This record gives sequence, C-alpha cells and structure tokens, in this order.
Amino acid sequence: MAFGLTEGDRIVASPTFFPVPAVVRSAPLGTVERPLPLIIDSDPGLDDALAIGLAIARPELDLLAVTTVGGNADVRHCTENALRLLEVYGRPDIPVAEGAAGPLTGEVVRATAIHGEGGIGRTVLPPSTAAPRPEGAVELIARLLREASLPVAIAPIGPLTNIALLLRLHPGLAERIAHLSIMGGSIGEGNTTISAEFNIYADPEAAEIVFRSGIPMTMMGLDVTHMATLDAAAAARLRATGTASAAIAAELVEFAIERVGQWYGGTTTAIHDAVAVAHLAIEDLVAVARYNVRVDTTDGPARGRTVCEGLAHRMRRQGLEPNADVGIRIERERFEGILVDAFGRLP
Ligand code: RIB
Ligand code: CA
Repeated sequence: MAFGLTEGDRIVASPTFFPVPAVVRSAPLGTVERPLPLIIDSDPGLDDALAIGLAIARPELDLLAVTTVGGNADVRHCTENALRLLEVYGRPDIPVAEGAAGPLTGEVVRATAIHGEGGIGRTVLPPSTAAPRPEGAVELIARLLREASLPVAIAPIGPLTNIALLLRLHPGLAERIAHLSIMGGSIGEGNTTISAEFNIYADPEAAEIVFRSGIPMTMMGLDVTHMATLDAAAAARLRATGTASAAIAAELVEFAIERVGQWYGGTTTAIHDAVAVAHLAIEDLVAVARYNVRVDTTDGPARGRTVCEGLAHRMRRQGLEPNADVGIRIERERFEGILVDAFGRLP
C-alpha cells in the first residue's frame, strides 16, 4: 500500500486545517480560600463517577448537589449510582435529585454498550443511606441557585435536558449561573455518529437551547477529552493509593478500557467528564479557544453535531459571535496525576 502503510494501519482521518489561537479562560476558578460552588448534572456513568469523586476531593470546589439525567443508562440507574458513589466517597450528605428520563424530543439514546446496563460496568456498590430529593433535579438546581450567596457553576456531564428544562421553567435564574463547564460536543468527529458526540446526540434540541442561552460556558468536547486518557497502568496507580474509592475508580476504568477497546480499538479510555470538572479547579490544565458553537437539530446525518466556528473572519461573514470557550489541549500525564492524587485523598 502507499505511504508505507500496511492494511489495518490506523491513520488520522480528519486533520484540523485552520488552527485557532488559545485564549485566556473565561471560566471561574475555585481556590482553597474561596471554593467554587458547583452543581454536577450527570448520567453516572463510568467517567461521570471519576468526575464526581474529583469534585469532592478538590478543595477548590464545593459540590452542592448531583442531579441525574438519563443518558449512559436509564435515569433510575444513574440516580442510584450517584447516591451510592457519594456514599463511597464519604459524602452522603450531598443531595441527589433525579431529572429527565429522556430527551425533550426524539428517540431515547443510551450508551450501555460502553457503560453496562446499570451504568457502572460490573461494579456493585453498597447501598446508600440517603435517598433522592423529592423536588427533582430542575427544582433542586433552581432552589440552590436562588439560595446561593455566591455565583454557582454547573458542570453538565450528560445530555443537557435538565439544563434546558431549567432555562425554560426558570428563565430568570440563568443570570445566577456563573458558568457552565460542559462535557459534550466536538470540533471534529463525533463518537456516537461520525457527526455527533453522545451527550449532544442524546438531546440535540436541549443542547441548542443551552448553547443559545448566552450563559458563559466552556465546552469540553472530544477534541480535548480524547487527550485525557487512562490506561491499565493508571488503573494500577489508582489502586496503589490504597483507598476504597480509588479501588472502585480503578475497576470502573478497567471496565471502560475493555469496552472501549471492543468498540473502538486501543488500550485506553478517555475520562471525558473529569476534564469539565478539573477545569474549574485547576487554572492551566486545559487550553481553550473562543468559538461560536451551534447544534445541528435536523434529522439528517449531521444531527447532534456541534458546529464550531473558530475563525474570526468566517464568524463575521456569518454574523456570528463567539459563545463558548472550547477545550483544545490538555496534558495527559498531569491529568492522570490529578486523578490519582484526588482518589488517594478520598475514603
Ligand atoms: O461522549 C462522552 C460522554 O458520553 C461522557 O459524558 C460519557 O459519560 C457519556 O455520557
Ligand atoms: Ca457523562
């Protein structure tokens, strides 16, 4: 074959032609002296589980609540997983509330092929001593936004259905959201279809409502999260910390490596969701650039694509304004060390 390739060699299929300049982050940064109030909206979820643990372990973040949405698995599994993970991480006091079981419209999409039917692989966690809050995800987020004395950041790391519903039911609360640090989308290829990343594909209409909202946001798409990978040696490092939480994280990572390898090849797994959380606690971990992001909500082959325009002259020509910082680079080794350190600090 040409170019010295032999059949089966893997090649990069879609290069980026027009690199865009990195910019100073717009996301707020928690500090030990002034922890950032944070709500995580999640579909736990193998990588969600590590993102939640990271948020608890980092002193720069004050995790106010975990709300759940159907995504990786049915929402009832996601809610039970969130409760049990918080128990394992030593924080059953953090409220959990269940949100949308499916998208605003369109078919329900799941990622159980990767995350397992129950959302956390083969791992069985001990029951939680807590129960979900009866007010539900949207009303819990709304109440916390109203009651907060400091601006609250939200890290949506599943489909954006709950956030869209919050904006439709409580439009006046949008201004009380300090920042959205979203795991979702991609500048380039998707993972669920060639066009779309899972969280966006699972509810494109909700994502479009969120990206059009004007709320300051960061999009951690696949372009950066696919640099944030762990391998079997990283799982062993987690386990070597000796904590129960790290042993569970290692088990989840090993399951993810197995399933990602079956579906996509390779021997690593991207801890997508933890990038969106880490960005709020660590100033220079992720490089970002300014883009205008829109979501394709048609029913064609590009459904769920995040259309990311980063070239200033093309934005001007289309009458577009930047609406998001988009993650474009992360240092993998540093990211791994941050996760190992975090889980070594949990119970
Ligand atoms: O595409 C990655 C995203 O989809 C992550 O949030 C993962 O948890 C899955 O929900
Ligand atoms: Ca997720």
